[in-house]
Amino acid sequence: MASAHLDVLINQKGGVGKSTLTVNIAAVVAENLGAVPDGNSPVVAVGIDPQGSTEKWAERVEEDALPFDYMAASEDPGAVAELKQDPEVRRILADCPGFLDVNGNASTRDPLGAGPAADALRAILDVADRAIVPMTTEFLSREPTEYTIERVLKPRGIPFVVVVNLWDPRDGTDDRDETFRWIDRHGYPRAPHAIRRYKIHTHAAESGTVVTRYKESGTAYRAREDFYRLALHLNGAA
Ligand SMILES: Nc1ncnc2c1ncn2[C@@H]1O[C@H](COP(=O)(O)OP(=O)(O)OP(=O)(O)O)[C@@H](O)[C@H]1O
Ligand SMILES: [Mg+2]
Repeated sequence: MASAHLDVLINQKGGVGKSTLTVNIAAVVAENLGAVPDGNSPVVAVGIDPQGSTEKWAERVEEDALPFDYMAASEDPGAVAELKQDPEVRRILADCPGFLDVNGNASTRDPLGAGPAADALRAILDVADRAIVPMTTEFLSREPTEYTIERVLKPRGIPFVVVVNLWDPRDGTDDRDETFRWIDRHGYPRAPHAIRRYKIHTHAAESGTVVTRYKESGTAYRAREDFYRLALHLNGAA
């Protein structure tokens, strides 16, 4: 029996959309696998964030309203390795903490440092099949993105895909395209489309819902389109 495919959502930088992408990719993938909200889902979103932001989000979610299951793994990172072997589980999306416990000493072999947060991250990276690296079009998101890829993912041989998030179409395409070029220049694989910035995503996080459940509207349609396209790309690239 093949084990479930584990994607980790990771970027050293906070606020780039790791948690938002985790739950919305999980929702779209679960829907595509025909999961129903009240059954055991073949898709599990895992929060290993010791600050518990995914957990706080999960608490706001109406029970049985989601097409994927949720598991908090901050206490026991080994639980994810076990989850991969669960024959009913096909996909796992793991939301990593915003700030890596980085050891400032550049000569250190492992830049993740010490402590429980670093241990949890190492444990999950050990069993990861792929990393999804969200970044924004902000200049400040480049260095942490490069650091995450060069120091954390490449040395471990973890395949990865960069996803541009929080692009505001009202600002025009320049920043987005400049970010795409930066990614391409580095030779990093990336999703062909950016995830657009829509307030509906921010509100959804507050009210505990996901993109597949947004009330019908033009914005909801476009927001969903972004995640369907991303999920298609991820499936093709898996
Ligand atoms: N595409 C988007 N459109 C609108 N708002 C978004 C989008 N992506 C993320 N956000 C919002 O931006 C903020 C940061 O996103 P999120 O919490 O997902 O980032 P994160 O990388 O998990 O942050 P942290 O490192 O703090 O865990 C949140 O308020 C979220 O609702
Ligand atoms: Mg988060």
